[in-house]
Amino acid sequence: MEKTVSMYNDIEKILVTRREIDVAVKKLGDMITEQYEGKELVMVCILKGAALFFSDLIREVSLPMVIDFMSASSYGSGTESKGEVRIKKDLDRPIAGKHVILVEDIVDTGNTIYFLQNYLKDRGAASVRVATLLDKPARRKVPLKADYYCFTIPDAFVVGYGLDYDEKYRNLPDIGILSPGVYGAEG
Ligand code: IMP
Repeated sequence: MEKTVSMYNDIEKILVTRREIDVAVKKLGDMITEQYEGKELVMVCILKGAALFFSDLIREVSLPMVIDFMSASSYGSGTESKGEVRIKKDLDRPIAGKHVILVEDIVDTGNTIYFLQNYLKDRGAASVRVATLLDKPARRKVPLKADYYCFTIPDAFVVGYGLDYDEKYRNLPDIGILSPGVYGAEG
């Protein structure tokens, strides 16, 4: 209790509540269930930020599927994307001929997911769609439009429900704007 309260002290404003997330995730799960029936579906979690969203979302999809995990770096410990993407953990299984949904926490500049989408297409996936919890379109640097998104947010650095600042705040149940004071003059 104490710890959650102190995490909230670093939040300037709550943008999306846990309740709103639940509703949106259920809706997205239903949509995927409807659109992927009869297809060989592989849902891929982009670690670590999408872990919470992913675990909730896959349980709302009532279809047989394989799950896999990838990890890519772009941000380091700051709040600005470095623009270069490096794969730190690749898929465990081949995806040729499979219908892939990349599950991401947030699409910001778009660099990460654009790179991963093309990478998996090149490996022969039948289709590669992007499902993101949050979309920050104001900062897009590549021609990437998420196929599925739950919430569009303004240009602010957010944490919670899997999203971190310097590996912290991932366990905050809601999504909120981090107070600029927490990361100094950088923001
Ligand atoms: P992009 O490559 O710029 O689209 O950034 C993608 C990654 O940067 C996301 O998967 C997040 O891990 C991180 N990121 C971008 N914006 C935020 C934010 O507002 N809060 C926390 N992480 C973020």
